[in-house]
Amino acid sequence: MSARAPGNIVMLTGAGISAESGLGTFRDKGGLWETFDWQKLATPEAFAADPHSVHAFYNARRENLVAAQPNDAHRALAALELLWQAEERGDFLLVTQNIDDLHARGGSREVLHMHGELLKSRCNPCGHLFEHEHAITPDTPCPDCGQPGGLRPHVVWFGEMPLGLDTIYEALAACDLFVAIGTSGTVYPAAGFVAEAKAAGAWTVELSLEPGEVSTLFDERHYGPATRIVPEWAGRI
Ligand code: APR
Repeated sequence: MSARAPGNIVMLTGAGISAESGLGTFRDKGGLWETFDWQKLATPEAFAADPHSVHAFYNARRENLVAAQPNDAHRALAALELLWQAEERGDFLLVTQNIDDLHARGGSREVLHMHGELLKSRCNPCGHLFEHEHAITPDTPCPDCGQPGGLRPHVVWFGEMPLGLDTIYEALAACDLFVAIGTSGTVYPAAGFVAEAKAAGAWTVELSLEPGEVSTLFDERHYGPATRIVPEWAGRI
């Protein structure tokens, strides 16, 4: 642990934390982007060209998510947040790149979904944002304005701006401890957060199955399945 006692924490999670809940990661062997072409499914241009396929892809992922359960790694982070708040140790920000809701179902109170949320869609024409578990097609009417054809998943696609960046950079500038869990460090800006945290003097920790693209920037690294290494690490601090 660093000389500076951890007060303010920023945690960044990626697909690896939900892998043992049965949700696929993107870049591991057999991952989503090995099976599916992200250029045809996860860009605004892809959605404009073929909304049927894009909706079908997210409908299938939504169905998997509804059947999935949070695991011990999600629960360990929720317990850490509770402890941090109960003992007033400092600020605690959980940022996830995941669009699943397993952190919330695992007990986390505050989660910043920088890449959006799978269980939400929004209406392009009227801006209405709503929660749902059911499938959506290009003909589904907006529950608010009633117009069909304008709904899109509330997810951040390649080429779009992640959500909550001001809050994240503010927290990184003031953080004492930065922990990245189950992310390959390939997608920016999230992959650049470790450098921001280091520049602020934070101790940086990588918890994942294997080293990611930016792993040399971490002061401390632990590799293994998230359900083992996250509770172990959380128990130590
Ligand atoms: N426990 C811990 N880590 C795991 C586990 C596990 N059981 N299984 C896999 N991992 C690790 C992998 O080693 C890999 O480093 O999780 C990481 C998953 O990496 P990616 O599939 O690239 O997922 P992520 O980093 O979250 O991707 C970032 O890319 O397309 C997108 O928008 C999508 O938010 C996503 C972003």
